[in-house]
Amino acid sequence: MAVEITNFSRLLLLSFFLVLSSTSAENVTYDHRSLIIDGRRRLLISASIHYPRSVPSMWPGLVASAKEGGADVIETYVFWNGHELSPGNYSFEDRFDLVKFVNVVKDAGMYLILRIGPFVAAEWNFGGIPVWLHYIPGVVFRSNSEQFKSHMQSFMTFIVNIMKRDKLFASQGGPIILAQVENEYGDTENVYGDGGKLYAMWAADMALSQDIGVPWIMCQQYDAPARVINTCNSFYCDQFAPNSPSKPKIWTENWPGFQTFGTSNPHRPPEDIAFSVARFFQKGGSLQNYYMYHGGTNFGRTSGGPFITTSYDYDAPIDEYGLLRLPKWSHLKDLHKSIKLCEHALLYSEPTHLLIGPLQEASVYADSSGSCAAFLANMDDTDEKWIVFQNRSYHLPAWSVSILPDCKTIAFNTAKVRSQISMVDMVPESLVASKTIQEKGSKGLQWHIYKEKTGAVEKTDFVRHGFADHLNTTKDATDYLWYSTRFHVDEGEKFLNNGTQPILMVESKGHAVHVFVNEEIIASASGNGTDITYKLETQVPLKAGKNDISLLSMTNAGPFYEWVGAGLTSVKIAGLDNGTIDLSSNTWKYKIGLEGEHLRIYSDGIDNVKWITPSLPPKDQALTWYMVVVDAPKGTEPVGLDMKYMGKGQAWLNGKAIGRYWPRKSSINDKCSSSCNYKGKFFPDKCRTGCGEPTQRWYHIPLSWFKPSGGDPTRITFSRRRISNICSSVSEDYPFVDLENWENAVRSNGEGRAILHLACPENSSISSIRFASYGNPSGACGSYQQGICHHPSSVLIIEKVCLNKTQCTIPFLEGDFSKDFCPGITKSLAVEAACN
Ligand SMILES: *[C@@H]1O[C@H](CO)[C@@H](O)[C@H](O)[C@H]1NC(C)=O
Ligand SMILES: *[C@@H]1O[C@H](CO)[C@@H](O)[C@H](O)[C@H]1NC(C)=O
Ligand SMILES: *[C@@H]1O[C@H](CO)[C@@H](O)[C@H](O)[C@H]1NC(C)=O
Ligand SMILES: *[C@@H]1O[C@H](CO)[C@@H](O)[C@H](O)[C@H]1NC(C)=O
Ligand SMILES: *[C@@H]1O[C@H](CO)[C@@H](O)[C@H](O)[C@H]1NC(C)=O
Ligand SMILES: *[C@@H]1O[C@H](CO)[C@@H](O)[C@H](O)[C@H]1NC(C)=O
Ligand SMILES: *[C@@H]1O[C@H](CO)[C@@H](O)[C@H](O)[C@H]1NC(C)=O
Ligand SMILES: *[C@@H]1O[C@H](CO)[C@@H](O)[C@H](O)[C@H]1NC(C)=O
Ligand SMILES: *[C@@H]1O[C@H](CO)[C@@H](O)[C@H](O)[C@H]1NC(C)=O
Repeated sequence: MAVEITNFSRLLLLSFFLVLSSTSAENVTYDHRSLIIDGRRRLLISASIHYPRSVPSMWPGLVASAKEGGADVIETYVFWNGHELSPGNYSFEDRFDLVKFVNVVKDAGMYLILRIGPFVAAEWNFGGIPVWLHYIPGVVFRSNSEQFKSHMQSFMTFIVNIMKRDKLFASQGGPIILAQVENEYGDTENVYGDGGKLYAMWAADMALSQDIGVPWIMCQQYDAPARVINTCNSFYCDQFAPNSPSKPKIWTENWPGFQTFGTSNPHRPPEDIAFSVARFFQKGGSLQNYYMYHGGTNFGRTSGGPFITTSYDYDAPIDEYGLLRLPKWSHLKDLHKSIKLCEHALLYSEPTHLLIGPLQEASVYADSSGSCAAFLANMDDTDEKWIVFQNRSYHLPAWSVSILPDCKTIAFNTAKVRSQISMVDMVPESLVASKTIQEKGSKGLQWHIYKEKTGAVEKTDFVRHGFADHLNTTKDATDYLWYSTRFHVDEGEKFLNNGTQPILMVESKGHAVHVFVNEEIIASASGNGTDITYKLETQVPLKAGKNDISLLSMTNAGPFYEWVGAGLTSVKIAGLDNGTIDLSSNTWKYKIGLEGEHLRIYSDGIDNVKWITPSLPPKDQALTWYMVVVDAPKGTEPVGLDMKYMGKGQAWLNGKAIGRYWPRKSSINDKCSSSCNYKGKFFPDKCRTGCGEPTQRWYHIPLSWFKPSGGDPTRITFSRRRISNICSSVSEDYPFVDLENWENAVRSNGEGRAILHLACPENSSISSIRFASYGNPSGACGSYQQGICHHPSSVLIIEKVCLNKTQCTIPFLEGDFSKDFCPGITKSLAVEAACN
């Protein structure tokens, strides 16, 4: 009883302490080794989650999953163009409710890094800078222009002040421990001439003058001034050193990879990310951030790249839909636990780095309290290695780091993924007509359509000779700009009678175009993520007399497009009696945006047009708006809209912009691999999937957007994203040490005690064991097979422990699954279970 009372009061004390620490001011400083929070050096794991890339109802769950994954800190950019809609007109609505997001992080008991920028890049439209700013005379983005600096300072001051008002800096008791000004400017500083450096130093001084009581950082700013910490962004940062020995080594962006329409999808293997992080901490790193930990979605027109997909999944530990990506999330969770077991030794001792082979390095951190932690690294990108360290021998797989929190026992090896795998499915669900429609007696789905007018002839915004720049004209208020001209064909033109068609030739700065002649679409073209310009040549069905030529130019602006511009540069017709005629300096009529956009027919303007309701919606029609009233899909699993069978366009649900869709396929010549060799330096083209497939097929629709109640639209479906089966395996070679219970996990002989752990998603439990074998099973999750050694009661034993449980733990190499079974064979245990 006494023990229970002690536990009880200790528990109370703990929660009392937590409340205290979350409201009292914390003193954040730093020295050469790390940040110092309230007098204590800290090793910190940070996770990037951008608030506008999900919805407020998802924030608490995402932040909780990051915390459970071992993160101490959330990192976010601040998106200026989402907040200052016109000069001085600020907005913090819905997904842009920054204060609410910071408070979610605070309530979770985590820290926050606020990267104010205000230029953020981030594959975000215009890199986060408001487009209106570009049209104020004298403004050059990110330069020593007084106009730019004045607007930038007003914005930063505004953001800092709302954070101060709500006491969100750590110095005031809030979660913000670091703030960032500018972003990767060191890499472009020279492009801006002499003013570049002046601007960077001005930005640092201006930030410091904000007096926020926590340190400022500048990433990739190699000449950051003394009081600002310069940090590293890369796939690897172990070799990084800040520009002064008095600054700690901080890694603000560790990348997996983003997607562009028309390419295959990049993946960074968990073994390699873990390797990069372990090497960073081995070599004196103190704070590491995953960019992204949850990438989320580029809703509406926020993606900027161009050709960046609407999905910003990023192959991150939490997927776009908010589900844990396993084994990546859990492998990194184990890594974080192992590193945290070493925290004191790492931060309070001077390391000894020893070469223990040509490409093998041991680092030992032994502090004065007697604790000792070691990292053993094998940088060989092909061969494993047995090494001797402090009289014990250790197996080191190629391209891996082992972490020994007591300098003896391996808690974790970056190449040994022992954690659970889950299989995620997109389960299709047909669209169901809403109940109100069904009650009105209609059967099935009813598609309503509205066809856009082609060209700028009927409704013209302005007329000019030659080409206006697309972005300068639309000011990015819409993706679309019509260019229309009229071309007269003489009755006597030979092509009219000799069976050939003239050729239309279009050149452009980007990014995509549809060509219409006499209201019929005849061709489309687009640039891509590496070359945004396109050229087009197509036969053109001209008739005698007047011909209307209309080009619908489309953009998807990116970080530097205020310089580059977009739209047509040349339009010519070849194959006429007079040879080639250049239409470029003709009189062109312009129309900005689509009629449906002006009338807001996707939201409150739905009744501004006359929709037609054909019995079957037309297929493969350009410039058509489709509308359908559907029931919300049932259940709480995340939902994606399957757009594989549609063309290029944008989608809305209840007035909320889901994003741009485009089932553009990657080239079948892309190199894809079904398995990925994690060994060796990662590069973006290394491990790609989906060659020859649309880059993005499903579009995430947040559940909170459903109200309770040119392609083939009949084939649009909702899909529920769900974890179907889970797998876990453990092997004598890969002992899974119970990191939750480290003291008990180490036997007296220094060996780790191994377990197998299974866990279903929230609110589901293990409903069946689909496979279990203790012995020498082979294969991968979904296709495990028994080997020659198989314990006949494997399934029964696992069922007894795990059935109907949310999670369970099975001891390995002891008890039922003892070491003596099948002597001489290296044993493993593999389990596949279904969650329900
Ligand atoms: C904050 O910590 C630094 C050193 O870590 C110390 O010099 C300074 O006095 C502290 N400030 C406050 C307000 O406690
Ligand atoms: C601020 O911007 C929004 C969105 O463009 C607009 O609706 C609103 O009228 C503006 N408010 C002011 C005061 O300019
Ligand atoms: C390793 O063994 C040698 C010889 O037995 C001994 O002198 C030394 O102290 C041992 N080192 C460690 C770290 O145990
Ligand atoms: C992009 O287009 C250019 C020019 O057509 C081409 O050379 C390049 O291979 C394309 N890149 C990708 C990733 O498709
Ligand atoms: C956009 O307009 C500005 C001001 O007229 C001009 O200086 C700039 O060159 C134009 N940009 C492009 C890409 O044409
Ligand atoms: C038809 O006439 C056009 C225009 O004069 C010419 O360019 C083309 O070569 C002719 N085609 C044939 C098959 O004669
Ligand atoms: C062809 O060129 C001649 C001489 O420049 C001109 O008179 C004639 O109108 C042109 N024909 C057409 C169809 O453009
Ligand atoms: C789990 O169930 C609880 C209680 O019914 C509910 O509040 C919660 O939202 C559910 N979580 C998920 C992820 O469905
Ligand atoms: C699991 O639950 C099912 C359904 O409630 C029940 O029939 C079964 O006996 C349970 N099994 C175990 C091992 O608890």
